[in-house]
Amino acid sequence: MDARTNPYAPGAGTRPPALRGRDRQIDQFDLLLNRLADGRSERSLLIDGLRGVGKTVLLSTFKDMAVEKGWYAAKLEVRHDTELRQALARAALKLLRELSAIERMKERVRRASQVLKSFSLRTPEGIEIGVGIDTAGTAGSGDLEFDVAELMLELGQTAQEAGTGVALLFDEIQFLDRTELEALIHGLHEVAQANLPLAFAGCGLPSTPALAGQAKTYAERLFLFQGVGSLDRKDAQDALTIPAASLKVRIDQAAADQIIDLSDGYPYFLQEYGKHAWLVANDSEITAKDVRRAHPRVLSDLDDGFFSLRYQRATESERRYIRAIADLGDGPQTTADVGTALGHESLQQGSSTRADLIGKGLIFSPRRGQVDFTVPHFADYVRRMDAPG
Ligand SMILES: Nc1ncnc2c1ncn2[C@@H]1O[C@H](COP(=O)(O)OP(=O)(O)OP(=O)(O)O)[C@@H](O)[C@H]1O
Ligand SMILES: [Mg+2]
Repeated sequence: MDARTNPYAPGAGTRPPALRGRDRQIDQFDLLLNRLADGRSERSLLIDGLRGVGKTVLLSTFKDMAVEKGWYAAKLEVRHDTELRQALARAALKLLRELSAIERMKERVRRASQVLKSFSLRTPEGIEIGVGIDTAGTAGSGDLEFDVAELMLELGQTAQEAGTGVALLFDEIQFLDRTELEALIHGLHEVAQANLPLAFAGCGLPSTPALAGQAKTYAERLFLFQGVGSLDRKDAQDALTIPAASLKVRIDQAAADQIIDLSDGYPYFLQEYGKHAWLVANDSEITAKDVRRAHPRVLSDLDDGFFSLRYQRATESERRYIRAIADLGDGPQTTADVGTALGHESLQQGSSTRADLIGKGLIFSPRRGQVDFTVPHFADYVRRMDAPG
C-alpha cells in the first residue's frame, strides 16, 4: 500500500498513531497536575522501562498535558556527558522567558532571572546562558544540592505567582551521576514541602528506581515508580488496528496475532511490523501472508537501526562480553556464568567491562549478580550477527 499514507511510526520518540496501554501513567500525571494546581501535594512520576517501550513518547504526552492546562513545560534529555546544572539552567531559561510574556509577571521574572543567572554562572557556559543582570542571586553557592533547590523553588514560586505551574520532564535519568541525582531529588523534595506547582516526571532505564533509592532514601515517598513495558495483547491489537482502521484498512485477526507474537507486544517492534506489513500489502486488507513477507524486512530495518545503533557504541572487549551474555540465552544471566563463558578466573575480571556497558546503557543489573540487555530481543540480534553467512 501507499507509503505516503502509512500511519505507523517506528522511531526514537516518534508519536505512535495510537498510544495504548499507558492510561495509568497518564491518569497519574493528570492527577499530579490537578493536585498541585489546587495547592496539594502529590508524588512525582518516575518511569522506567527497556529501550523502545515508549518512555520518551510518554514524556511528550505529559508535556502536552501540562501545556494544555496552561502550564509551562520543559522537556530535557540527559546524555552521557550532560551536566545537570547546565541542563536545568537551559530549561529554567526557557520557562522564565515564556513566563515573562505575561505582562504583570515581568518584574517577578526579572528577580527569578537573577537566581538563574547566579545558578548558571557556575556552568561551563557561564555568562552565555545568563540573562544580563548584574546582581547575584542566591543559587550560585557552588553547592549543587543547595543551588538546584534554590532554582527549583524560584521557578515554582514564580509560576505560582503567575497563577499557573511549571512541569519539568527529564528523559534518560539514568545518565545523571550520583551527586546530580541527589541534588535533583533534594530539590524536588524542597519544592514538594513548599507545595509549589512544579510537576516533575522522569524516565529512565530499569536501573532508575534503584539509583533513585540509593541517592536519597526518601525517594520512595517522593516518587511514584511506574514500570512500562510491552503491551498486553488487547492494547497491542488496538495499537495496530486502530491506525489502519482510521484509513479504512483492515488487519485480519491472524495477521494481528502474528505481529503480536513476533513483537512480543513491544511498542517499537509493533510500529515496525505495522509499517512493513502496510507496505507489502496490496489492497485494503493486511493478512498473515503480508506479515510473513514483512518479517525479514522488519528484522533488517531493526538490525540496521534500532539494534546496531546500540551495538556500535561497544568496544571490542565489550562486544565479547555482550556475546557471552547472548550465547547464554534470553533473559537475565548471572555474572558468574558470563565470567565462566569468557574464561575469567575471578568475578573481578569482568567488572570494569560490565560497568562500562552499564554506563553506556546497554546492559543493566535486574538483581545483584545478574545482567540483562536494556534492549528487548537484543540477545537474538547478537546471535543473528554472529551466525555464519
Ligand atoms: N503506547 C504505545 N503504543 C504504541 N506504540 C508506541 C507506544 N509508545 C511508544 N510507541 C512507539 O514505540 C517507539 C519507541 O518509543 P520511544 O522512543 O518513546 O521509546 P523509549 O522508551 O523512549 O526508547 P529509548 O529507551 O530507546 O529512548 C516509537 O516508534 C513510538 O511511536
Ligand atoms: Mg527515549
